[in-house]
Amino acid sequence: MIVLEWKEPFITISEAAAGLRMEAYVIGGYVRDLFLRRPSKDVDIVTVGSGIALAEAVARKMGRGAKLTVFRNFGTAQVKTREWELEFVGARRESYARNSRKPIVEDGTLEDDQNRRDFTINAMALCLDRERYGQLIDPFDGIRDIEYQTIATPLDPDVTFSDDPLRMMRAVRFAAQLGFFIEPETFDAIERNKERIRIISQERIAGELHKIILSPRPSIGFELLDLSGLLSLIFPELSALKGVETKEGIGHKDNFAHTLMVLDRLARHSDNLWLRWSALLHDIAKPATKRWDNRLGWTFHNHNFIGERMVPGIFRRMKLPVNEKMKYVQKMVNLHMRPIVLSDDEVTDSAIRRLLFDAGDDIDDLMLLCEADITSKNPDKVKRFLHNFQLVRSKLAEIEEKDRIRNFQPPISGEEIMSTFGLPPSQPVGTLKEAIKNAILDGIIPNEYEAARELMHQKAKQMGLLPNHPDGQPN
Ligand code: CTP
Repeated sequence: MIVLEWKEPFITISEAAAGLRMEAYVIGGYVRDLFLRRPSKDVDIVTVGSGIALAEAVARKMGRGAKLTVFRNFGTAQVKTREWELEFVGARRESYARNSRKPIVEDGTLEDDQNRRDFTINAMALCLDRERYGQLIDPFDGIRDIEYQTIATPLDPDVTFSDDPLRMMRAVRFAAQLGFFIEPETFDAIERNKERIRIISQERIAGELHKIILSPRPSIGFELLDLSGLLSLIFPELSALKGVETKEGIGHKDNFAHTLMVLDRLARHSDNLWLRWSALLHDIAKPATKRWDNRLGWTFHNHNFIGERMVPGIFRRMKLPVNEKMKYVQKMVNLHMRPIVLSDDEVTDSAIRRLLFDAGDDIDDLMLLCEADITSKNPDKVKRFLHNFQLVRSKLAEIEEKDRIRNFQPPISGEEIMSTFGLPPSQPVGTLKEAIKNAILDGIIPNEYEAARELMHQKAKQMGLLPNHPDGQPN
């Protein structure tokens, strides 16, 4: 049996509530996580009476270590300490107008408040009154649903989902995060109400998607999104990966199933949210690039480049950050086949240097993604790939140590080329820069200033360019 220990911050809250003659309860995620033994520092407190008044009293008692923020418009308040984030709210009844997320809120009892919550496992409350301290108030048998690992709504699911349609995604998210099952009636209601997701902001949807992606087996969440019909509404590009077409007896793989397998495999090795997004998007352009070729069968030429170009549109629409995080995902999508192509044929030093140059500091992430992408069912093929992959990894380490190409900047800048030959910004400057870069990456010259300068002069001479100054020094 789980008990709420008589410890801070609960002692202070209990005493403050007693001073105000108010009932106070811990409710929601903290209680659920206590029973699931998932330690948490975010606590929701519900009072019968003013949540703001209780928060003020708690903050006063806690003194300097506590920071109080009051949200008068919402009737809520937060007390933050070094360790805890405490949210206070008065118990409410809520109802929603059909086409709006704006609730009509009235004061209510604890029972009213529990009725308006999303799932039975999130509607449990623990009493903080001194005499009843730690008593569990669980009108919907959330404890049983925790035991049976079930996500179910406290009321008629049509009402619960209609009140806040984001809860349909929360159901899927909890199923993925906790490995729970969505109770059939609740799941049917998601299917029936799926269109209502359209009134939810992209930011809130993205928040749930991140949590699904970060769960131990994200495929659970995406499969449920697909089965319920939500996926094609919120993420049509991902939904389009589904299905297999066969021609002349030749089928291609189901790219949705493959993508989820890659994401699950990657999730075993990395918690990096954006690398996981990259796995989700690595084959996103396969439907757009799919062709049938009489000689080659199914092809997806350039799906990595086209995929890279699709990323900004997806990020903008989903209100994901359009910044260096997006650039990172684009880079991963673009490069996701490079290590595997390398391991297919001979692994030359030059190819490795180019890979290091293009991937920079993200090379280790790229290797993780690429390894997760090997999902062939043919064990010989997998063995060969993995063996070659080891080769690529050890070569990468060797070349990196020798040449330090990662984050490499060509030793001669465009400015220096321009001043040496008296050129304006123009194509020959780019040609010379590219020649120096290629010579270094191909191992023709070392990654050093003098060698680069000599090569620049040779190449310029061939192009009919003369230096400004007879000894070749810039003016
Ligand atoms: N809640 C709800 N409907 C929502 C969001 C939240 O009923 N759309 C209620 C649930 O009782 C939930 C509590 O508010 O437990 C707190 O919500 P939140 O902090 O968003 O989620 P948690 O359940 O705490 O889970 P997590 O911290 O993992 O997001």
